[in-house]
Amino acid sequence: MVVDLNELFGLTGKIAVITGAAGALCGEMSESLSSCGVRTVLLDIDDTTGEKRAAAIRKSGNEALFYKCNVLDEERLRDILKDVSNIWGVPDFLINGAGGNQSSGSTIQSFLSREKLSDKTEATFFDMKLGNIQSIMDINFYGTFLSSIVFGKGMTEKGKGVIVNISSMAGISPLTRVGAYSAAKAGVINFTKWLGVYLSHTGVRVNTIAPGFIMTEQSRFLQFDKKTGEMNERGRAIVNGTPMGRYGESDELIGTLIWLLSDASSFVTGAVVPVDGGFSSYSL
Ligand SMILES: NC(=O)c1ccc[n+]([C@@H]2O[C@H](COP(=O)([O-])OP(=O)(O)OC[C@H]3O[C@@H](n4cnc5c(N)ncnc54)[C@H](O)[C@@H]3O)[C@@H](O)[C@H]2O)c1
Repeated sequence: MVVDLNELFGLTGKIAVITGAAGALCGEMSESLSSCGVRTVLLDIDDTTGEKRAAAIRKSGNEALFYKCNVLDEERLRDILKDVSNIWGVPDFLINGAGGNQSSGSTIQSFLSREKLSDKTEATFFDMKLGNIQSIMDINFYGTFLSSIVFGKGMTEKGKGVIVNISSMAGISPLTRVGAYSAAKAGVINFTKWLGVYLSHTGVRVNTIAPGFIMTEQSRFLQFDKKTGEMNERGRAIVNGTPMGRYGESDELIGTLIWLLSDASSFVTGAVVPVDGGFSSYSL
């Protein structure tokens, strides 16, 4: 069979819902998909940045809608589905990107010593409250679940669609300090496999991108010294643990995203694709 690359990877005219679209990675995804002719529906709780991103896409001559939306608000998600269906039709794609970590659900130390346990000035895992953990699970895990329930049904009725979840290296193997985030992202991977199998007879595919360490404003703030611009200890550990010896750039996720959304991956479902400079394959 002769392969027509444009047909295989072409996404023109498709409708994609992207959650967390005001953020660094999914903002970049929204812009890139728009430039491939995809009609993008940007969802985020941050309406200032979200509106700006959608306006920038429209200014460049492509089609984009923005809706302020908390991915945990089922009624709002259903209203958006109804609205988008009336304007453009039932969405073909869902990218579950809303997520992130919170310091209140992380430990300060990577390893606990018994001396630290009696040091009342520094909180440990044993001081954590359920609410701190729940809010991380809510955004990363339940938000992915709920958005898939709402937008996945329309795709299933159409008999074609793709859901791409965004996990993390933390979901493949837990990262120190971020136990709740790691558990939530592991849940996203497990859920991807389950839903991929469950929908495998329907024409809807479900996959996960597991990004490695990508340079964004947030990582710059966490892994670099604000004053000197020097990488801190954690930043150095990340680069040392990444065989390619550097952070990734947000546009390095786009090729994988296009592949997963397009017919080029028509036999791929329930898969986890690391885009990580080799991080998840490396031990020593
Ligand atoms: N940046 C990285 O290195 C990296 C690595 C691995 C995985 N990830 C994952 O990629 C995704 C995007 O990360 P990012 O670095 O762009 O982070 P980001 O903070 O820039 O973007 C996340 C977006 O999600 C939105 N959001 C948060 N809670 C929401 C809710 N309840 N409803 C709707 N929107 C909500 C935020 O407003 C924000 O715009 C996240 O799931 C993150 O966990 C990031």
